[in-house]
Amino acid sequence: MLDVAKIKEDFPIFQRIIKGKNLIYLDSAATTQKPKQVIEAISNYYKYNNANVHRGAYTLSEESTAMYENARQIAAEFINASSSRSIVFTRNATEAINLVANAWGLEYFKPNDEILLTQMEHHSNLIPWQLIAKKTGAKLKFIYLDQNGKLDLRDINDKINKNTKFVSLVQISNSLGTINPVKYIIKLAHTYNVPIMIDATQSVPHTNVDVQELDCDFLVFSGHKMLGPTGIGVLYGKEDFLDKMPPYMGGGEMINEVHLDWADYRSIPWKFEAGTPNISGAIGLAAAIKYINSIGKKNIEQHEKTLTKFAIEELTKIDGVEIYGPLDDRGPLVAFNIKNVHPHDVSTILDEFGVAIRAGHHCTQPIMQWLNVPATVRASFYIYNSLDDIDVLIRGIKKTKEIFASVS
Ligand SMILES: Cc1ncc(COP(=O)(O)O)c(C=O)c1O
Repeated sequence: MLDVAKIKEDFPIFQRIIKGKNLIYLDSAATTQKPKQVIEAISNYYKYNNANVHRGAYTLSEESTAMYENARQIAAEFINASSSRSIVFTRNATEAINLVANAWGLEYFKPNDEILLTQMEHHSNLIPWQLIAKKTGAKLKFIYLDQNGKLDLRDINDKINKNTKFVSLVQISNSLGTINPVKYIIKLAHTYNVPIMIDATQSVPHTNVDVQELDCDFLVFSGHKMLGPTGIGVLYGKEDFLDKMPPYMGGGEMINEVHLDWADYRSIPWKFEAGTPNISGAIGLAAAIKYINSIGKKNIEQHEKTLTKFAIEELTKIDGVEIYGPLDDRGPLVAFNIKNVHPHDVSTILDEFGVAIRAGHHCTQPIMQWLNVPATVRASFYIYNSLDDIDVLIRGIKKTKEIFASVS
C-alpha cells in the first residue's frame, strides 16, 4: 500500500474539517484533489513567468513558450507517444472528442456510414457523435452490455463491417468500473481499416496507458482527473491522422499566413489550438504528471486494486446493498445502491461522516436505463485514500440503513 498519510501532507485540502470530521474524498472519478506541487507550479508561473506563448521575442514570452511546449513533451512521454506533435491541448476530454467528431466526421462521414460506440459511453463520447450523425446522415451503432456489465463481444464482428467508418469507446467505465478489451477492439477495427478513438479519461490517471502499444489512432483524457487543474485536456492523435483533419476552430495562434479571403494554417498540433491556450493549465498538468511518476503508475494501480477489492468485500457483506458492474478486474470505483434508500439521501448522510461521495447518473444515463435505476452512489478512489476511509464509508452506510429502517 502507498504511504497515504505522507501523500496527504501534499494535499492542502485534507486540512479541511467537514461537519466536524476529517475529509474523506471518494469522488476522484469526477475530479481529483490537487497536490501543492501542482498548485505551486501554477502559482509560480503567474508570479514569475507569465506572458503569452509563441508571440514574443522577449525573455518572459520565450520562457512561457518553452514551459508550455515542455508540458506537451511531458504529456507525450506519459502515454508513450512517439512525438509531442501528436499531443493537442484542449479544455478537457469532452472538447477533445468534439474536436475529432467534428474535424474527422464532417470531412469524411457520408449518409449511412456507421459510427460504432458502446452502451457504456459517458455522455461526452455519445452526444458529439449524435450531433455529427445528424449533420452527416451517418448512423450510430452500439456494442451492448452483457449481464455482468461487460461488453458483449459476441456480435462485434457484425457491428464492425464495411460500413463502419469510426469506432470510439471508453477504456474504463466511469459508472461500472468495467475495463474494456480495447487492444482487441483496436486490432479488429484496423483489420477493417477503421480509425478508432479511446476515451482514456478514467484509465490514464490510474494505470499505464501506452498509445504505441495500444496502436489506437486517437486517445483523450482530462487533466483534472489526474491531480492537474481543470480546463486542460489532451487529444493524442497519430500524426498522419491529425494531418488528415482540417482545423476544428479558427483564430489566432493556429495560422501561418492570413489574407482577407484565405489563410494558411500551422502544422500539427498547433493548427488545432486556436486562440491563447491554457498555458498555466498545461504547466499544472505537467506538474501533476511528474507527481504521478514520482509515485509510480504500478504502485498506484496496486494500491487502488487493494482499496477496490476491500470496498467490494465489505459492501457485499451488507444486506440490501446492490453493487453494479463486474466484481472482478475493474477500475478503482464501485457503484452501488442501498435498497429503499435514494442515492442522494445516501450521499447527504455520508457527508455527515465527512465522506464526499457522488450520487447521480454519472453522465451515463443509458447505463442507468440499462440498470433500471434513476441513479447510483459511486465511491471512487485515488492515491490519497486508505483502507480506513473505506471503513468510515461502510460505517456510514450501515448508519444510513439504520436511519431509514427507523423511519419506514
Ligand atoms: C469516461 C469519461 N469520459 C469523459 C469524461 C469527460 O471528462 P471532462 O468532463 O473532463 O471532459 C468523463 C468525466 O467524468 C469520464 O468519466
